[in-house]
Amino acid sequence: MGWYENAVIYQIYPRSFKDSNGDGIGDLRGIIEKLPYIKSLGVDAVWLSPIYKSPMKDFGYDVEDYRAIDPIFGTMEDFDQFVSKAHELGLRVMMDMVLNHSSDMHKWFQQSKLRDSKYSNFYIWRDKVPNNWKACFGGSAWTYDKTRGQYYLHSFLKEQPDLNWHDDECRHAIFNEVRYYLDKGVDGFRLDVINAVGKDPDLRSNPFMFGETPRPYDMQNHIYDRNTGYTHEYIRQLRKVIEEYDDRALLGEIMIQGKGQMEQSASYTGKDNDELQLCFEFSMVKQRINARNLRAVAGKWYELCSLSKGKTPCWVLSNHDVPRAITRAGNNEETARMLAVYLLIQRGSSVIYFGEELGMQSKSFPRKELQDPLGIQYWPFFKGRDAERRPMQWDFSENMGFSTAKPWLEPNYTRDWRHLTVQGQESDSDSMLSLYRNLIKLRKQRSEISQSDAVFCDAVPSGVLSYRFVNAGRCTSVLLNM
Ligand code: GLC
Ligand code: CA
Repeated sequence: MGWYENAVIYQIYPRSFKDSNGDGIGDLRGIIEKLPYIKSLGVDAVWLSPIYKSPMKDFGYDVEDYRAIDPIFGTMEDFDQFVSKAHELGLRVMMDMVLNHSSDMHKWFQQSKLRDSKYSNFYIWRDKVPNNWKACFGGSAWTYDKTRGQYYLHSFLKEQPDLNWHDDECRHAIFNEVRYYLDKGVDGFRLDVINAVGKDPDLRSNPFMFGETPRPYDMQNHIYDRNTGYTHEYIRQLRKVIEEYDDRALLGEIMIQGKGQMEQSASYTGKDNDELQLCFEFSMVKQRINARNLRAVAGKWYELCSLSKGKTPCWVLSNHDVPRAITRAGNNEETARMLAVYLLIQRGSSVIYFGEELGMQSKSFPRKELQDPLGIQYWPFFKGRDAERRPMQWDFSENMGFSTAKPWLEPNYTRDWRHLTVQGQESDSDSMLSLYRNLIKLRKQRSEISQSDAVFCDAVPSGVLSYRFVNAGRCTSVLLNM
């Protein structure tokens, strides 16, 4: 059994977790300092959002050098120490690999601007804008570069040019960056927007579609810039790379449109289970929170990722891109407690977003305080993702113990904020934190949870979600009154 098959994974957004050197930004030494806390939750693995050298146009999702740690976060020695300390504590480490695009400051892109360089085909260049593709972060997906005298493709910011996975040398270079971290003993990767890597080689225009929002990007059916057959092939190749090593795992971020395309997300595990071991399914994040929706999504997810198919469902409710689940539920703590059960008492792997275990809330910022380029671009229709990136709420001291300096984003001082800190919850057996710890313990004690798919019971009053796990004469029933 691979470690990822029954794992609780803790996502850290490094800028916001713990600042060790008083510059207002979280860093690796801060994370190292807090490893015992992470261990105390009972989780199995830590996933770090990107910490590579970066101009930070998208806070690290624009990588300038995959083999360097950004000085804001520390050094490669700090990273190595982080990995070995985590391993000493029995925690696995997952890195966030951003392989669909790099930063425009990456040496590959800088050189790619020169047509006769060996990196010439590492990006996607055309003389004229060849199609209607839009950048997810606004505007056309094509930007003109004067040096090269051509347009290049970028699915996100113009400072995030898309890598050309069709080029064998480019793909091999990418795989070598992955091997660099495998060699360091990293246990797995969260793969950023991995369903976008294989673009249609003919760069055909996406057909029109009525989208969930009126922004041009959502008014296209993304069949040519995402989810092509090539992507599946390249993911199979990447899977072979990690299989050169023992017991490593790939968890893919699958971009979806509308309220979800669960078959499509599941398809990235591979027909022969030879692609990603785990995929995020964001229907859980996009649907309104109620018993009926949770039932529908979980039921289908178990079908698509069943034991009999040899697959592992992955569960997630919050991350650094969306308002926290508790906030989507009107900041209602009782609902959040039920969501904790739903997240953690499942077969497969469950991903906790830092602070979720405290009931931390998302709170948006006034325009002048925005940091997220997406919020700056789309204000006021979209207020960006700063709200869910506010600092971790540790204790009653200055800036809730996150930093001694002014934090890059202000902590969320709600009226009862003390009650939403680790210090405020640590010794309270009824706190959200204690609930998370107890649920993780329970999930480990009861083997039937990891050894059977949930069976749903629909003969319950509306507003109630009911399912159970039965295996080898043992049974765990879950009843959630939403
Ligand atoms: C993913 C990341 C998001 C980032 C985007 C572009 O969706 O989760 O934070 O902005 O990819 O890399
Ligand atoms: Ca710092």
